[in-house]
Amino acid sequence: MPDRYEVKRFRTAPDGSPDTALASAWVKAVGSGFHDSNRNDTFVDKILAMYRTDDRELTGIYQAAPVAPHSLGPDVPVATFATLRKDLNIGYGRQLETQLVTAVTVRGTHRRQGLLRRMMTEDLGAAKAAGVALAALTASEGSIYGRFGFGVATFERSIKVDTGPRFRIRHAATGSVEMADRRVLLDLAAGVFDRVHRLTPGSIVRQEAYRHTVSGAFGRDGSEDDAIRCALHYDASGRVDGYASYRFAGWDAKPYTIELVDLVAATGPAYLELWQFLGAIDLSERVSWESAPVDDPLAWALEDPRCIESADQRDMLWLRILDAGQALAARRFSADGTLVLEVADTLGLAGGTYVLNVSGGDARVVEAPPGTVPDLSLGVAELGSIYLGGVSPVILAESGRILEHTPGAAFRAALMFAVERPPHCLTHF
Ligand SMILES: CC(C)(COP(=O)(O)OP(=O)(O)OC[C@H]1O[C@@H](n2cnc3c(N)ncnc32)[C@H](O)[C@@H]1OP(=O)(O)O)[C@@H](O)C(=O)NCCC(=O)NCCS
Repeated sequence: MPDRYEVKRFRTAPDGSPDTALASAWVKAVGSGFHDSNRNDTFVDKILAMYRTDDRELTGIYQAAPVAPHSLGPDVPVATFATLRKDLNIGYGRQLETQLVTAVTVRGTHRRQGLLRRMMTEDLGAAKAAGVALAALTASEGSIYGRFGFGVATFERSIKVDTGPRFRIRHAATGSVEMADRRVLLDLAAGVFDRVHRLTPGSIVRQEAYRHTVSGAFGRDGSEDDAIRCALHYDASGRVDGYASYRFAGWDAKPYTIELVDLVAATGPAYLELWQFLGAIDLSERVSWESAPVDDPLAWALEDPRCIESADQRDMLWLRILDAGQALAARRFSADGTLVLEVADTLGLAGGTYVLNVSGGDARVVEAPPGTVPDLSLGVAELGSIYLGGVSPVILAESGRILEHTPGAAFRAALMFAVERPPHCLTHF
């Protein structure tokens, strides 16, 4: 039977080239998949310019046979999928290039026919063949991606912070905070983020869109967002080492609320002093933040930690090991020792039995000779979950997702895979 569908993979070509129409229809299809309001041409042009900077690869699946009369044309993809490659901080400042999967949509009338499976398996296979050891995504639903070998590796939560009279932070300022024109973030945001990224396991280098959205240069409808405000933190020498981007939620939101768009601080003092600034904004009694870290220094610095009302703790980064040997060898480990890991992978990309030998924190990884008894048996998704040190192998063993053959091996793995601070991914993609 002829294939009902045709797959096209393309990169965003320079403005005005024939492929621009293809890419433009693709962007609009993604918007439709995520229930966005209609994306106008100016919006699409700006998005495509950012895609070019990130060198995104766009995948679209198109109907090969004539489409039904009056329905969306054959140039509108029925499924979309995009990838870009950015560095992931895998602990102790080490970086590993990672295939980021995003913009996954399948039109309702074409769902459950294997289109996602087709795009995903082809793409992961190609990434591995190109030498990329890791893939990652963020998920709209928790039940979709485990089957493709992705495991939850970092978490985040939403918080509402009461900035009324009981909001007091135990910290004597060492730097200062000033308000700035929001557009300075177009130049400053990436540099500040880069410092934070290097210090934060689980952090992914941000895509081009970030500096445009946090500065308000690219609002929800693609135009300037004048509601965005910006505060900069300066260290004692006057260097900018943190910023907050935020907006007032409006006079109808009670209590009056400041909504954080982005808070990036390269040092502990910068973080706390930006919070001191946010807590002191007049005519507001609350700060809300949708992407707050789970392990938050703010909670420990507040005189009353119950100022923080936390909700919706959720999975954030899902990690997929594509090449177990390469990924393990790239990590620095927190404890020396030997661990034999039997990894199962239904997609046949990263399965095998690996001897992980760590000495002085550095790893040597070899495939185990046939007949070697493993210390732990686990799926590739579980390996993705423990890889950044954010999920305990002991808990996964208790849940039945890791099988412990050698007593104590899960705890040994927990010590070895630990990283220098709780992993946290500040980048949504
Ligand atoms: C989620 C979505 C991409 C799935 O696409 P699809 O083409 O229908 O998926 P497939 O037919 O390839 O199914 C692949 C597998 O995933 C399963 N699956 C698909 N969607 C699922 C869901 N929402 N929940 C649980 N399982 C799901 C299928 O049952 C199938 O399982 P199997 O291959 O093990 O039998 C599609 O429903 C969609 O566009 N949703 C809205 C946008 C969205 O949520 N995107 C994800 C952003 S992270």
